[in-house]
Amino acid sequence: MKVGVLISGRGTNLQALIDACGAPDFAAEICLVVSNEAGAAGLDRAKRAGIATRLISDRDFPDPKSFEAALDRALTAAGAELVCLAGFMRLLSAGFVERWRDRLINIHPSLLPAFRGLNTHARVLEAGTRFSGCTVHFVRPAVDNGPIIAQAVVPVLPGDDADSLAARVLEQEHRCYPLALRLIAEGRVRVENERVAIDDMGAPGGVLINPALESVSVRPAQTREVC
Ligand code: GRF
Repeated sequence: MKVGVLISGRGTNLQALIDACGAPDFAAEICLVVSNEAGAAGLDRAKRAGIATRLISDRDFPDPKSFEAALDRALTAAGAELVCLAGFMRLLSAGFVERWRDRLINIHPSLLPAFRGLNTHARVLEAGTRFSGCTVHFVRPAVDNGPIIAQAVVPVLPGDDADSLAARVLEQEHRCYPLALRLIAEGRVRVENERVAIDDMGAPGGVLINPALESVSVRPAQTREVC
């Protein structure tokens, strides 16, 4: 399956996809990387891997429609059958999203549908949730919406700041995105009633509890603090 990747920045998720596609039995290849930012480090990652790149900056177009038409032309000309958004920081219109319906996927650094939008990790810490994670999903016109393909869960730890939590989530993004791409490229993913069904899907083992049950020793009753 030929895949186009849209980026705006450092491209670590792009790198994870490039590395995955390098395996001989991986059913996808990246045919084009497009950035809307000239300075995106991800462009160098693609070039180093010998992948065709294009800079298509929204600033060079009079309106979003003509910008998206240029994106569409580039992806179509490269033969892209699937488009991966990997830190692409422009909102795409309903017209573009519908044209690529079920052929356009995104990765978001939270457990959707919680914490859509920007500054995810700071908002997770503010909310005090015990877990966070990442989600790969098909794109729908509403931001960070759409049928969920894969998710990974990480604990939020005492002392975390937005950077440490982001790093823990990012590590799992680099596993989830190639996994989702592989499942799609192998033809194992279907969208039915806006939910994803995956053929021959293994179920994850284990349950996560944070704080860990085994690490919380029982305090003697007389020393317990009452809150
Ligand atoms: C990732 O956290 C991704 O989930 C979000 O944007 C970030 C992109 O990072 N959509 P990178 O450019 O892939 O390193």
